[in-house]
Amino acid sequence: MTYRFATAQDIELLASLNRQLNEDEKSTPLLTTEQLLARMTSWLEGNHQAVLFEKNSGVVAYAIYCTGERAPGEIFHFIRQFFVCREHRRRGYGREAVRLLSTEIIPRTEHLVLDVLYNNEVGRAFWKALGFTEHCITLELPPTTDD
Ligand SMILES: CC(C)(COP(=O)(O)OP(=O)(O)OC[C@H]1O[C@@H](n2cnc3c(N)ncnc32)[C@H](O)[C@@H]1OP(=O)(O)O)[C@@H](O)C(=O)NCCC(=O)NCCS
Repeated sequence: MTYRFATAQDIELLASLNRQLNEDEKSTPLLTTEQLLARMTSWLEGNHQAVLFEKNSGVVAYAIYCTGERAPGEIFHFIRQFFVCREHRRRGYGREAVRLLSTEIIPRTEHLVLDVLYNNEVGRAFWKALGFTEHCITLELPPTTDD
């Protein structure tokens, strides 16, 4: 597996993969194509990095992350999105992409964190299989709807 950092030329591809990720995670409301393109553009023009993972020159997965400081001198990297293309799953590509992300791309000496939706059982099994442990549980009081 090889990887490369995405550029402005990859925004449409990333927005399309982001749509598939949202479908898989059953995100609501689903963003429109314009919204996905605008958000991806602003992330890449801002403080986010996008990495495309390739096999035989074809994209099989992507990750988007940003970097911050949790406390003075304590660098952490937040994985905003991680996705393996549907036709390429259960072949170890996700595991290999995260290995590259957490060794070659992000120094192993720094914290790597992410949010996974509670209902995303496959996602939770995946991250646990890779050695990620639960650090914080986010609670939500859903808004009421007007009748
Ligand atoms: C979660 C996801 C990234 C896994 O990618 P993948 O390439 O299929 O994962 P791998 O083949 O590298 O699997 C690594 C390990 O994760 C676990 N795993 C992966 N898919 C699983 C599944 N469907 N059910 C249970 N465990 C699973 C297994 O322990 C697996 O090891 P094994 O194959 O030796 O059993 C992929 O299914 C995906 O992109 N899903 C939609 C997006 C998503 O949920 N992203 C994470 C959001 S936080």
